[in-house]
Amino acid sequence: MDSSEFLGFLTSRSSVREYDSDPLTQEEIDYLVTCAGTAPSAGNLESWDVIVVTDEDTRVALAEAALDQAHIEKAPAIFVVCANYVRSMSRYGDRGILYGLEDATIACTYMMLAAHARHLQSCWTGAFDDEEVRKVLSLPPHIRPVSLLAVGKGHPPAQLTGRMAEGEHVHLNTW
Ligand SMILES: Cc1cc2nc3c(=O)[nH]c(=O)nc-3n(C[C@H](O)[C@H](O)[C@H](O)COP(=O)(O)O)c2cc1C
Repeated sequence: MDSSEFLGFLTSRSSVREYDSDPLTQEEIDYLVTCAGTAPSAGNLESWDVIVVTDEDTRVALAEAALDQAHIEKAPAIFVVCANYVRSMSRYGDRGILYGLEDATIACTYMMLAAHARHLQSCWTGAFDDEEVRKVLSLPPHIRPVSLLAVGKGHPPAQLTGRMAEGEHVHLNTW
């Protein structure tokens, strides 16, 4: 893949919140997890975990925990990406809180792009009640849910989401 193909790959991805009823295959699920496993992480500690939720009752419960967002129930698979603070804080102390969040975020980004590479649709979902998600998935105290990545089969929207002008993000040498 050359650099313009890479940019084309990135710009052709869009969040999708409607899916066909087809489940993901185990091979597709494994592919996303394998890709996440290539992500960089602080100290190479890989301070993230993922709970792959395909069970319908659990998806319904997660959708409620995610402020009734319907795409969480509709998607055949939800990748609940979590920071693992025991791994990150054992070496980095308080700084490990940030590193755990970063590791989980990068892993989720890789999964989202892996889904795109497989022509699967996805929607990163960050609006949820942490405690409700903890209860639904029986998460231990050192595991913080960071994102619910809904993944399914379907069609990309006709129009892609817009972005700010690049210059609005960039500061040269100082703020
Ligand atoms: C940290 C984060 C949290 C998000 N939370 C939600 C969410 O709770 N519900 C939702 O429908 N989309 C959510 N999104 C998706 C964004 O709305 C979407 O990425 C953004 O509008 C840009 O659109 P695009 O992904 O189609 O390029 C979230 C995305 C990120 C990165």
